[in-house]
Amino acid sequence: MSTILVTGATGNVGRHIVSALAAAGHRVRALVRDPHRASLPAGVEAVRGDLTDPGSIEAALHGVTSVFLMWPGLPVSPRVVELIAEHAERVVYLSADVTDLRDGERPVVFHQEIERLIRNTGLSWTFVRAIDFAGNTLGWADQIRRGVVRLPYGQAARSLIHERDIADVAVRALTTGGHERAAYVITGPESIPQAELVRIIGEVTGRDVRWEELPAEVAREQLAAAWASAEFADARLRAWAGFVDTPERVTDTVERLLGRPARTFRSWAEDHADDFR
Ligand SMILES: NC(=O)c1ccc[n+]([C@@H]2O[C@H](COP(=O)([O-])OP(=O)(O)OC[C@H]3O[C@@H](n4cnc5c(N)ncnc54)[C@H](OP(=O)(O)O)[C@@H]3O)[C@@H](O)[C@H]2O)c1
Repeated sequence: MSTILVTGATGNVGRHIVSALAAAGHRVRALVRDPHRASLPAGVEAVRGDLTDPGSIEAALHGVTSVFLMWPGLPVSPRVVELIAEHAERVVYLSADVTDLRDGERPVVFHQEIERLIRNTGLSWTFVRAIDFAGNTLGWADQIRRGVVRLPYGQAARSLIHERDIADVAVRALTTGGHERAAYVITGPESIPQAELVRIIGEVTGRDVRWEELPAEVAREQLAAAWASAEFADARLRAWAGFVDTPERVTDTVERLLGRPARTFRSWAEDHADDFR
């Protein structure tokens, strides 16, 4: 039986991939920085490795045919991609909603750089280009507990995706054929205004929560501090402003690949109700 290596195996998406693969009887190896601290399903082999130190991942790649690769926002390491190509046949990369780079074009986000590195290997690849995760709304948890979420662009309609759907798509690409050289843009099943997302979380958790519109200039400073990047905060604010007039797009890719609709934001909130309490 072939072995599938999962990076980010304890993370938001990776942990669901590991569980789903193990439950389906696949041989799974998890790349973790500390095997003693990682809590993994029975039967999953934990191997120590750090993506900032390419030499440390070589042992984890022995005997592996497929790799789920996520990149945790670190400086990009071309050597890691080379090593994967030296050992494995297939890679499924967790990317974001990015555009393909043209020849010679400079990447705007690191995902484009990693996609280009992967394309330049002999690997069979699939890019899972996920729209923002529903889990990002956990960043509102403190404000939800206090009953008011103060942010700009309450009418920005978002198509956030449940992390389990990302995992299910990745598992499909790792374990079935027909996904070679595919870049799947995956979203939730509908676009919902941010103020409505807050209302749904309140309803599911049994709290009275309201949205309070904050001027974008005031939010900019807070978000730049929270994310330690004024550039990132500006990019997010610009995107949200755009989603007020043009709701974030919705694709049917999850449904096409999995034969069932993408999970709703309400179902995500139900799964995470305790995290907001
Ligand atoms: N959040 C979004 O809306 C969004 C949207 C599209 C794409 N993405 C992308 O999705 C990916 C996952 O994002 P996330 O926020 O959900 O992260 P995450 O999976 O929760 O990140 C934590 C995971 O990264 C692993 N990790 C961290 N540093 C590592 C290192 N140096 N070497 C090896 N493993 C390391 C951790 O492993 P240990 O067990 O070793 O701690 C843990 O499993 C990112 O590339 C992000 O850009 C996110």
